[in-house]
Amino acid sequence: MDTNVLNKEAESKSRLLTVRDLTVSFSTDDGTFKAADRVSFHIEKGENIGLVGESGCGKSVTALSIPLLIPSPPGTIESGEIWFDGLDIMSMTSEQLQDIRGRAISMIFQEPLSALSPLHRIGRQIIEMILLHKAMPQKEAWQFAEQWLSKVGIPDAADRMFAYPFQLSGGMQQRIMIAMALMLEPNLIIADEPTTALDVTTQAQVFELIRAMKKKHTSMLLITHDMGVVWDMCERIIVMYASRIVESGSREDIFSNPRHPYTIGLLEAIPKLTGGRTQLKDIPGQVPSPFDYPKGCHFEKRCAFSMKKCMTENPPLYDCGTGHRAACFLMSGSSG
Ligand SMILES: Nc1ncnc2c1ncn2[C@@H]1O[C@H](COP(=O)(O)OP(=O)(O)O)[C@@H](O)[C@H]1O
Ligand SMILES: [Mg+2]
Repeated sequence: MDTNVLNKEAESKSRLLTVRDLTVSFSTDDGTFKAADRVSFHIEKGENIGLVGESGCGKSVTALSIPLLIPSPPGTIESGEIWFDGLDIMSMTSEQLQDIRGRAISMIFQEPLSALSPLHRIGRQIIEMILLHKAMPQKEAWQFAEQWLSKVGIPDAADRMFAYPFQLSGGMQQRIMIAMALMLEPNLIIADEPTTALDVTTQAQVFELIRAMKKKHTSMLLITHDMGVVWDMCERIIVMYASRIVESGSREDIFSNPRHPYTIGLLEAIPKLTGGRTQLKDIPGQVPSPFDYPKGCHFEKRCAFSMKKCMTENPPLYDCGTGHRAACFLMSGSSG
């Protein structure tokens, strides 16, 4: 067998998710825009990926596309491929999709109340999910749920099973969502700003919990504003700006050798403590409205290194090291 075939085989065994050229658009009263524009990335089995970028860049849209959860209308997956564990997500029947969601791919959102129904008691919601995916007697499912509530640090778990979500604090609701996301041992956890709504102490506890509970072979796509958390939790980082991936690489590449001016700006915006004073350097300007993206590089108007070409041409992702890529003409060598 030639090495190419062997490499491909090795890739397919270790590969959990491949997203290729994903384009998602939204139709609104003001017209149609692309929220994700030819987004391509992959996740290996057991790998933790951090997806970062300012608000409105298309991170949630990208994440929601994986289990085909884009609300439609107004959203449409215009093109692209999504392969999960060797299966083509886009050609799945609704039964197959329902089976995958929750069991193989689970989600943790910023707002736990968007995932929990306000009308039903916690226990009922959890066991419904267990029974949807696991053949288990109801009584056993109840015990299993109760054990998980204890595991994620919910005191008096047996009583809490009878509570309604609104009777619990935000931190407790988030713990319940984490229990629901982890208890079926999914292959992929998508955590979309899982702690943004929580106070700082609870944030740290929630990440500690995810880290402790997550199995080694489980992959994670973590969306967060907190670059410190990305450094702690993720092996690889994808940077999105205004609907496109602008850089991706190992966390060391991204933190020590960022190549895209946007990534450099993001890292400079992390507060640093120097001489007792906190310094925060903002990236000048704002993310443009998706109706108003520049014709060429979407970052061009905010970029200190902008060249003529950047105004009219969209830079491809250039290789700038093993597994490190940046969509900037500065990386194109002398041809820029
Ligand atoms: N359901 C929706 N309807 C219309 N526009 C949406 C919807 N969801 C997201 N968008 C738009 O798509 C773009 C990307 O959004 P999103 O993926 O949520 O950004 P991020 O998660 O990076 O903050 C934004 O301009 C946002 O307003
Ligand atoms: Mg988001």
